[in-house]
Amino acid sequence: MKNLGIKRRTFLSGTALFGASALLKSPKAFSTSLPKKMVGLYGPIQGVAKLNANENPYGPSPAALKAMAEASKRGAYYVRNSAKILREMIAERHELSPDHVLLSSGSSGVLTYLALALSKKGKILAPDLFWDTTAKMGVRNNKYGIKRIPNDVKLGIDLSAMELELDDEVSLVHITNPNNPTGKLIPAKDFERFCNRVSDKCVVLVDEAYNELTDSPDKTTMIPLIKAGKNIAVARTFSKIYGMAGMRIGYMIAKPELLELVGQFGLGDYGLNQAGVAGALASYNDDRFLAYSKSKVLEAREMVLSALAENGLTALNSQTNFMFVDLGILNAEKFREQMEKKNILIRGIYRDYNNWSRVSMGRIEDVQMYVDEMPKVLDALSKTYS
Ligand SMILES: Cc1ncc(COP(=O)(O)O)c(C=O)c1O
Repeated sequence: MKNLGIKRRTFLSGTALFGASALLKSPKAFSTSLPKKMVGLYGPIQGVAKLNANENPYGPSPAALKAMAEASKRGAYYVRNSAKILREMIAERHELSPDHVLLSSGSSGVLTYLALALSKKGKILAPDLFWDTTAKMGVRNNKYGIKRIPNDVKLGIDLSAMELELDDEVSLVHITNPNNPTGKLIPAKDFERFCNRVSDKCVVLVDEAYNELTDSPDKTTMIPLIKAGKNIAVARTFSKIYGMAGMRIGYMIAKPELLELVGQFGLGDYGLNQAGVAGALASYNDDRFLAYSKSKVLEAREMVLSALAENGLTALNSQTNFMFVDLGILNAEKFREQMEKKNILIRGIYRDYNNWSRVSMGRIEDVQMYVDEMPKVLDALSKTYS
């Protein structure tokens, strides 16, 4: 008995767990970069600032936690009514019928199904910098590729350049708004005009994973265009402001014909887990929790902005829970490596944007670690350049 206890504890330790997961050899595209010894069974271990995946560590909300515990007791049963009610709630908020809502395991589910469905028919047109994980799934399984259009000089999405590239071979235009990794939001009026015109020619996907974190979520969403019958799909998630990334609930809003096409590649409600749906139901209208989470993000962004200013650096104007920091002459991957040595996990280089570094707004104490260690790491790295 004693031995068994020891074995069990070893299995539960972060190191052993990492070893076990490495054996599973999950494809790189789906891994969420888990450095050795820093991640325990369900998340970062004590003393590690996990600022690399845009999670909201203040979630799940107390109401969601309670609902999930309750739902887990009934985990013997497949999901049925709870998902139906969630679809109804989402539809009601946007004054649509429930057949305009498709749920999946994270928004990655619906995003992947859409990419699979449409990259059978043609190319995906997208900016150079966008959250491309699911688009890649589409093209990996089909003959068409992603056509990437350079971002503008301020790393914004160049809508005019994208529109010029539209041709009969394009089946999907994929825009992340606000964008990841830049955090930038497209001005609503410009974007609305773009979506209106482009959706006459092909499907427009707007990934709004961070919409609730923008200053005016209702003004920046493209969901009203769906109500107007446009060929647009909007993806949303409970992984970001709702703080339930590990509970895997997301959804797509689009007209029923388009969702029917998308739904062919997924399992619908059958692919959902009862606890995740329960948490989503309990927190969807929890304005108090959402406001609290947003206030923490704003507080963290201020901390990072002033630390950057003190170090002579800047970041792009973010409307999200992450910031894209311009490191000047320094290399973002080297910065990431050095920060990791201080137990701070951030992102390295995106594509060839060598001096751009993405950091998520996590718990305030984690952001404090980032802010405290940044000058020392910058200093050490600068010396290697002089
Ligand atoms: C823009 C964007 N869309 C979608 C996702 C996927 O999130 P999930 O599958 O957890 O909903 C992410 C994750 O970071 C993201 O940044």
